[in-house]
Amino acid sequence: MPFPSIIAIDGPAASGKSTIGRKLADSLDYLFFDTGVMYRAITWIAISRGVDVADEAAVTALAESTPIDVRPPSVNDSRACDVLVDDTDITWETRRAEVEGKVSIVSAYAGVRRALSKQQRRIGLRGRVVMVGRDIGTVVLPKADLKIYLDASAEERARRRYAELLARGGQADYETILAGVRERDRIDSTRDIAPLRAAEDAVVINSDKLDIEQVFEKVWQLCDE
Ligand code: DC
Repeated sequence: MPFPSIIAIDGPAASGKSTIGRKLADSLDYLFFDTGVMYRAITWIAISRGVDVADEAAVTALAESTPIDVRPPSVNDSRACDVLVDDTDITWETRRAEVEGKVSIVSAYAGVRRALSKQQRRIGLRGRVVMVGRDIGTVVLPKADLKIYLDASAEERARRRYAELLARGGQADYETILAGVRERDRIDSTRDIAPLRAAEDAVVINSDKLDIEQVFEKVWQLCDE
């Protein structure tokens, strides 16, 4: 078997997809493409322009008319990629609490998904790419060469988010984060369009009892098989 060219990694929030995906892309010299940043970017654009995220038509129009550029990181501040809209760097804005709280609403809109999936597919089909998201293996690139579904319990994922926030010097409350993770899971997995689930031919890895190196080793073996 040739080495997989299009690698899809899906899974819930904070399951380690981005860390693993980035490491894998670096090792293979592939493009790392975190598709969640596109939904986050549209959510931030709506908030910053005073567009009500409950207004589906207005948010969809934004998704259809706003080109989002995702590039390799230009600043060494632990970011996975640069997120640019009209040449403005909004990388850290996409991580703000207001965005966390609203991005699931935005990503449930059919028109938003259609507009962003199209862009994601075009980039993915160029190959030599590690694409990370929720529906890459099921909807965006169902013919990906290798599909991985990375899972972990809500408690473990909340613990990781909590540690991450503290490490960045922020303040955090574990119970609030856990409630947020659960609510995001609920919305992401029960939405009508492209709900979060593993593709039938995906390899599921549960990382509850594994550290990053152990997960990476499993993923690397799958690539090499
Ligand atoms: O992975 P993340 O936390 O950055 O994702 C942000 C939101 O976008 C989350 O609510 C799920 C959604 N998303 C999606 O619906 N489809 C994708 N391919 C990627 C993310």
